[in-house]
Amino acid sequence: MKKILDALSELVGEAFAACGYDASYGKVTVSNRPDLCEFQCNGAMAGAKAYKKAPFKIAGEVAEQLQTRRGSVWREAAAVPPGFINLTLHEDFLAAWLTGAAGDEKLGCPRSHVSQNILVDYGGPNVAKPLHIGHLRSAIIGESVKRICRFMGNRVIGDVHLGDWGLQMGLIMQELKERKPDLPYFDPNYRGEYPQEAPFTINELEQIYPAASEKSKKDEDFSRRAHDTTFAFQKGDPGLQALWHHIVNVSVRDLKENYRKLNVDFDLWYGESDAQPFIPAMVEKMKADGYAHESQGALVVEVAEEGDTKEIPPCILVKSDGATLYSTTDLATIVQRMEEDSLDQIIYLADKRQEMHFTQVFRCSRKTGLVTDNVRLKYIGFGTMNGKDGKPFKTRSGGVMRLEYLIREIEEAVYRRIMENENRTMDEAQARETAAVVGLAALKYGDLSNQASKDYVFDIERFSSFEGNTGPYILYTIVRIKSILEKYAQAKAGASVSAEMEEDRPAESQAGKPSEDTVSAPGPILAAASASEKQLQLCLAQFSETMVTAYHELAPHKICQYVYELSNAFNQFYHETKILAEPDPVRREGYIRLITLTKKVLETGIDLLGFYAPERM
Ligand code: ARG
Repeated sequence: MKKILDALSELVGEAFAACGYDASYGKVTVSNRPDLCEFQCNGAMAGAKAYKKAPFKIAGEVAEQLQTRRGSVWREAAAVPPGFINLTLHEDFLAAWLTGAAGDEKLGCPRSHVSQNILVDYGGPNVAKPLHIGHLRSAIIGESVKRICRFMGNRVIGDVHLGDWGLQMGLIMQELKERKPDLPYFDPNYRGEYPQEAPFTINELEQIYPAASEKSKKDEDFSRRAHDTTFAFQKGDPGLQALWHHIVNVSVRDLKENYRKLNVDFDLWYGESDAQPFIPAMVEKMKADGYAHESQGALVVEVAEEGDTKEIPPCILVKSDGATLYSTTDLATIVQRMEEDSLDQIIYLADKRQEMHFTQVFRCSRKTGLVTDNVRLKYIGFGTMNGKDGKPFKTRSGGVMRLEYLIREIEEAVYRRIMENENRTMDEAQARETAAVVGLAALKYGDLSNQASKDYVFDIERFSSFEGNTGPYILYTIVRIKSILEKYAQAKAGASVSAEMEEDRPAESQAGKPSEDTVSAPGPILAAASASEKQLQLCLAQFSETMVTAYHELAPHKICQYVYELSNAFNQFYHETKILAEPDPVRREGYIRLITLTKKVLETGIDLLGFYAPERM
């Protein structure tokens, strides 16, 4: 479907053409003076130069031409000095466009562009380290970006890109070796099969890493031993390899559980380790092609470019001691990804402090031909989640906050709010269940409603409020619509039941949960009869525009902004309109279709953000 602004631009373009001007001047935008009009066209201002004519004169001619459609497309089309064309839509036109959108699978979003093959690299947790706040944003924003790209008709895969390589693994293995030296993994003479069962639980594992990391900072000798172990493991020591598999398996099981709670899911569970086999050939080729050269014992690729405003240091492939780095792994991962799938785009989500790393990796892979010019490499660097004190979010005791605790805290806050409500109809167990769904929305919306690159303050009280620009408010609006639709379906079923009593049908089977079909009686969206109804319809028509922008900018916060505005528009309409008590059945059915569409758009919006609404709140 054509989005509404394109449909309107075409109509205004035709008017320009009818007056002898180029149709391209007919571009329509949403009015930036909503007090004066709904849409505007500034084409006469641009056309004035080309046609050497006063802009107001051109605007006047075009507005005159537009008058021919007054009463069908426009309610108002007026030229105003110095040369704007102010436009107000006719209710019939708006309703007809929305009727089309309501029947459209993508709710009016265009899908003309060529479908791309996109990989989103997000999550990026490190094996055996508890999933913490630092990885939360990557998961939340990445999941939404993935869904947005998919919705717009691309083939998109998400890869978790586990941090399962490097020193952290050696630290864990070394610590384990010193705690349990008798394990067969550390016996160089061991020839049997290694045990199937991991020699630790996830709790032990999570306790081992911080202990080892602490120790390595204080104890130089331990640190050296851990380095040696890392090296032995990377060289393929069979015992350490077997142990590594246990660490990864136990950790991944726990990670999957955490991501499931976050409603985040990955198609690929590759890790940094999977890219290692691609390193030797890649490095050799970079050498052979003359891109990699030695500098102070290390092997590097220069990536500085003319016009750089700050120094971009060379990308280091291999250090003087033979070790490869984070960047080497990311480069090899590109090789792996391009070999497995011909991608058009790779999108990375990582803390914005990693910007230099990605600049180096992207430049290096372009320069050395790992990707061709038409492959887009895009890095979305996100800001820090701060506490109310403006410093990175910590637990009350000052430690790094674990994701599980954070989720529990926000669920608890929502639970309290539900239980505070004197009119609540839920028992405790239902309230707990609902709190989990609403808590997720509070957490995700609180994060996503900020532009990703900005730092933001994590404020549980504010995020979990049922009023204002919050996730729970959006859910509350959806639940309100669900409840109206349910009442409507019940009333309707009740009416048909009494008519069919003779047939001896049990009333309950009719008055049960309404199905989508009983609710959305087929038929058109009706022309708005009040200002708030028109506002709601205009807002619904903006969905396509929002999606196009959110996709181009890879910006979930645009969807947050939109669902908030739509919720406001709906609630305004709801407060001013008797929906179920509307006496005219045609109008009443029309309202039902309109709010069914509203529900669908809101639900689609929050699905793109990665959360969903409960049945009740
Ligand atoms: N594991 C990394 C970290 O914790 C994030 C990985 C981001 N993705 C990437 N391809 N480098 O910082």
